[in-house]
Amino acid sequence: MLTSARTRIAGAATLAVGLLLAAALGGCGMVGEKPVPEPAAPAGEHDPAVWGEKYPAVYQTWLDTADPRPAGKSRYKRGFDDGQMYDKLSEYPFMPLLFKGWGFGIDYQEPRGHYYMVIDQGEADPSRVKAGGACLTCKSPYAEDLNTEDKDALFGATYDEAIGMLPEEHRELGAACIDCHDNETMELQTRRWTVDAALTEVGLDPGALSTQQQRLMVCGQCHCTYSVMKEDGASVDVDFPWEGSEWGAVTVENVIDTLVNDPARLEWTQEVTGLKLGFIRHPDIEFYSAGSPHMNVGMACNDCHMPDIRVNNETVSDHNLMSPLKTDMVTCKRCHYDSAEELRARVFAIQDANAALFINAGYKTATAAKLIELTNASLETSAADIKPKYDEAIGHYTQAFYRTVWMGAENSLGFHNPAEGQRILKDAQTEADAATAILRELLASKGVDVPAEVPLELSKYLDDRGVHKKGFVKAHYLPDPSGQAQKTWPRSLAAILE
Ligand code: HEC
Ligand code: HEC
Ligand code: HEC
Ligand code: HEC
Repeated sequence: MLTSARTRIAGAATLAVGLLLAAALGGCGMVGEKPVPEPAAPAGEHDPAVWGEKYPAVYQTWLDTADPRPAGKSRYKRGFDDGQMYDKLSEYPFMPLLFKGWGFGIDYQEPRGHYYMVIDQGEADPSRVKAGGACLTCKSPYAEDLNTEDKDALFGATYDEAIGMLPEEHRELGAACIDCHDNETMELQTRRWTVDAALTEVGLDPGALSTQQQRLMVCGQCHCTYSVMKEDGASVDVDFPWEGSEWGAVTVENVIDTLVNDPARLEWTQEVTGLKLGFIRHPDIEFYSAGSPHMNVGMACNDCHMPDIRVNNETVSDHNLMSPLKTDMVTCKRCHYDSAEELRARVFAIQDANAALFINAGYKTATAAKLIELTNASLETSAADIKPKYDEAIGHYTQAFYRTVWMGAENSLGFHNPAEGQRILKDAQTEADAATAILRELLASKGVDVPAEVPLELSKYLDDRGVHKKGFVKAHYLPDPSGQAQKTWPRSLAAILE
């Protein structure tokens, strides 16, 4: 069923693409003329209002990132659409079990508009900003300045101290013009040491990127995964786990290898299993760039997320970045002939299939985690007759865990790279099943009774998260009204949560 849906989509795509692709990517044939970029602001100017004097129309769209988004247009990425923040931990109840032991198990929410990036961080549970100054790395446009001035001071600071290092009027300022543009030429550029290091690791010269690479990296400087590097428990740097990868193939396998082989990247201890682990945060650039159909035809994030819009008789790229579903797929129509509703249905079909696999992988990984807990409690795991099998199970479990976290953290519910998402999630299920099978056998061989269905105690982890400073808004994930996605779920979420 899935295959035929995908074939139909690709078929429809090809019809239009031959005609429109060159025009859409080349920039000619678009509606209206864009202003010729001129120097916008003095060197080092962080204040978008100053840049805005030269580019009032773009500035207006940038300010609009504070606006509410239309409700009812997206199925999975509802952010703050209907006035409440969607809590990932109650959407996917296996997450609080897997993340118990640190901040992500307490407070993990869906994203909303750029205007809120520092504000939301300030309002997060204190456990989420324990890494202190490191947390500003991909939020504040001053991160590069503070890192250059005094890295030790930035990374040694608590979160509140680091906020105190910012100019008072910009303590809530998120992604600003200076994060993405050269003030003289208006060309796209990134301004983060983390990006230069990562690009060098994948064999690129940060100063000589192709147009597509540069456009991808202005978003990818924050929409990427990273490790908060630890030395004796203290945070000392932020680094992308890209070593050993090539551009266009920063795969989940390579990232897992990097995390597993570098103790400085193990940031927390998973309570259920007692394992020291790393973490994967929003790998949007990695997932998209790993051979997705749109990557392969030269597209970057802005081709879908920044439609051309008219402001005061000027056509500009909309800097109010949001889900294309919420702008009624206008960007897609440059290449796809389908109606907005047809395109939306195609996105949902991909996302539903991905969600079903993801939820399965999540429960299977959680089951393996609970069996590790049981093994730790009932057996001497360092004993010679147990350790080899136990270690083998832990190896499989770790592979499953990181793949599940990866797919839960990329922001498109599989859309950015549909085939890659299926591959990763199927591997996650296989790895989790392998861990479970080995542990069941081990436990049975030592006379430990294992129930056919391992109790996950989900509500314990979900409800017992400590006290959030603003109180939790529980947003239980509501299944697709057509019942499509629900059919393939392992069990009814409602039943689990009751
Ligand atoms: C300085 C870091 C940074 C940069 C650069 C950045 N983003 Fe974001 N983006 C974020 C953060 C953080 C959030 C979540 C904000 C929140 O929830 O408060 C976010 C949220 C989003 C959202 C969700 C908006 C919504 O309405 O829910 C989209 C879409 C998005 N970004 C796309 C992009 C694209 C496309 C680019 C490049 C043109 C980009 N971002 C560049 C950090 C960044
Ligand atoms: C081919 C079009 C396309 C391209 C290219 C693309 N995206 Fe997306 N993106 C989407 C769609 C469709 C969704 C799903 C939105 C939804 O479900 O509401 C999405 C979702 C997102 C979200 C979550 C939005 C939300 O409302 O929470 C973010 C963030 C995001 N993309 C960032 C990026 C980044 C960064 C890149 C480049 C590395 C990128 N996108 C490239 C189409 C695209
Ligand atoms: C998150 C990154 C990001 C931020 C922040 C950002 N821009 Fe852009 N900007 C882009 C991208 C991407 C393009 C499209 C470039 C392209 O088409 O290759 C763009 C295009 C432009 C253009 C060219 C004309 C057009 O509309 O396409 C101007 C002018 C511009 N931006 C001004 C600004 C100003 C002023 C600010 C601050 C108020 C700003 N930008 C903030 C990423 C950003
Ligand atoms: C610049 C042109 C362009 C834009 C803009 C564009 N696409 Fe595509 N899209 C393509 C091409 C090319 C393919 C690959 C077609 C093929 O393989 O036959 C494709 C493939 C797809 C597929 C099939 C993917 C798969 O693996 O099953 C879907 C679904 C899709 N696009 C939806 C969208 C949506 C939704 C948007 C807007 C958010 C969008 N596209 C924007 C050119 C574009």
